[in-house]
Amino acid sequence: MKPVYSNAAIVFGSGGGIGKAIKQELLSGSVYKNVICYSKSNDIQLDITDENAILKAAYELKKKNIKISLLINAVGYLHDKTFMPEKKISEISNEYLLNCFKLNSIGHALIIKYFTPLFNQETKSFLVCLSARVGSITDNYLGGWFGYRASKAALNQIVKSASIEINRNIPNLILASIHPGTVYTKLSKPFIKESKCFSTNESAKKILKTIFNLEKADSGKLLDYHGKVIPF
Ligand SMILES: NC(=O)c1ccc[n+]([C@@H]2O[C@H](COP(=O)([O-])OP(=O)(O)OC[C@H]3O[C@@H](n4cnc5c(N)ncnc54)[C@H](OP(=O)(O)O)[C@@H]3O)[C@@H](O)[C@H]2O)c1
Repeated sequence: MKPVYSNAAIVFGSGGGIGKAIKQELLSGSVYKNVICYSKSNDIQLDITDENAILKAAYELKKKNIKISLLINAVGYLHDKTFMPEKKISEISNEYLLNCFKLNSIGHALIIKYFTPLFNQETKSFLVCLSARVGSITDNYLGGWFGYRASKAALNQIVKSASIEINRNIPNLILASIHPGTVYTKLSKPFIKESKCFSTNESAKKILKTIFNLEKADSGKLLDYHGKVIPF
């Protein structure tokens, strides 16, 4: 009989600012026997726009009989060499919107699809997608950033819908979208001053504390790094 590694933590986006800090925090603790990290360019390489690659990654864990207790998806996209977030309607572009949805919504949905069957069903476990306060429609007072805002709002809806089904099938699994705060990383650098935001280590610690305080009633919600609910 194969051993069951019932206490695995998974991080997607472990090469990014917040993802790397979460990975280090998990590796320095003793809660998880097994910390498995995926990144586009570091650790186990995985492009989350590739559904087949996600399926294969999940299958590899299944073959090893790994059971997940924590999954944090820290993948996200706001800008690249070609695109910056839109300041006005005239800047809306098909390609940028597609990039936002592929990385901020669809990739997360596919990971929920292929990885939720691998969760430990016996004990309380967590699947968290890093979202953003600007994905809240209620909280939108400034406008702009169409692709990022809309793709994070879609992510929040995907997590909410999945949480309803998961509540029936894997009642011990809590799903949540978490806003990590304003954190100085490659993603945020062009828009913020380092002195006015959290370091990646501070954010990782706050995110993990929030996750470990989650209760079943929180499943499907969008929460900030203190565990305070952000209205959709
Ligand atoms: N920083 C903030 O102030 C802030 C605020 C609100 C929300 N957030 C959210 O927090 C999360 C983490 O952001 P961050 O600030 O840490 O950004 P970051 O440093 O830019 O990290 C983004 C991560 O996404 C990964 N990624 C990009 N394209 C990918 C692909 N095709 N397949 C797999 N991975 C891919 C990157 O992988 P590589 O490193 O391998 O390229 C990187 O690990 C994101 O969801 C972001 O929207 C951040």
